[in-house]
Amino acid sequence: MDLGISGRKALVCGASSGLGLACATALVREGVQVVIVARTEGPLREAAERLNALGPGRAEWVAADVASAEGRARIFAAHPDFDIVVTNAGGPPPGDFRQWQREDWIKALDANMLAPIELIKATLDGMMARGFGRIVNITSSAVKAPVDGLGLSNGARSGLTGFVAGLARSTVARGVTINNVLPGTFDTARLAGNFEAQARREGSTAEAVRAARIARHPARRLGQPEELGNTCAYLCSVHAGYINGQNVLLDGGSYPGTF
Ligand SMILES: NC(=O)c1ccc[n+]([C@@H]2O[C@H](COP(=O)([O-])OP(=O)(O)OC[C@H]3O[C@@H](n4cnc5c(N)ncnc54)[C@H](OP(=O)(O)O)[C@@H]3O)[C@@H](O)[C@H]2O)c1
Repeated sequence: MDLGISGRKALVCGASSGLGLACATALVREGVQVVIVARTEGPLREAAERLNALGPGRAEWVAADVASAEGRARIFAAHPDFDIVVTNAGGPPPGDFRQWQREDWIKALDANMLAPIELIKATLDGMMARGFGRIVNITSSAVKAPVDGLGLSNGARSGLTGFVAGLARSTVARGVTINNVLPGTFDTARLAGNFEAQARREGSTAEAVRAARIARHPARRLGQPEELGNTCAYLCSVHAGYINGQNVLLDGGSYPGTF
């Protein structure tokens, strides 16, 4: 299927690895001109080189922290107009809410709620004026099925989800859709880090934690980042103009409810 977005310009955040890189890859395959962002220059530059080798779209990069106003200003100074924006950043650490101070909450809100809102604020009116736009926020399955111990993530991402639900109804008549993708357990560097941390807590090994997680999963496997990337690219396509304000859960059926 031709997604009809060849030549469009996309900002993909948190895109030197994992789910963000998978979204950038799927968009480049569709001929989109992507600007990828992450904080660390080396892996980001290498990711852009791999994307340019892939084509037919092109990749440029900006090393910036999307959770900071300064980082976002640098992105938009170099690239003022985007047709597609994929918001993403690292998730907050796990822990016990009794230990979290105001500063911990502000960091989580900055990265996982306020940064996406600021990225939307900087790009939405231009998209609406031009009559086409796609915004996809990478959130988490924890928005639908909260995980105890991931309270910072549950709270910050739910705030973003509520905000987006209201906003999306006011943009779609001008050709701009806003949706969220909710990953379950995807095989990325972050997940490998989580397995290692859990293994240390339990006196186990990362391999054993991973195997136990897979054995409990209805799909008996982890999600592959390209599965999420391709879903994101579809949501950015011309065919998805009537999908708006939705929370698209990609968890291989882990969520046990009917809806
Ligand atoms: N993988 C899963 O199973 C899963 C499940 C649920 C939710 N999620 C959420 O999905 C998001 C992506 O996860 P992932 O597994 O793809 O993680 P990952 O493999 O660790 O990749 C994270 C990417 O984001 C960049 N990044 C992190 N913080 C950033 C910031 N403030 N500004 C700009 N770039 C930033 C990282 O590069 P730098 O560090 O160089 O900036 C890296 O490129 C996270 O929020 C995670 O919590 C993932």
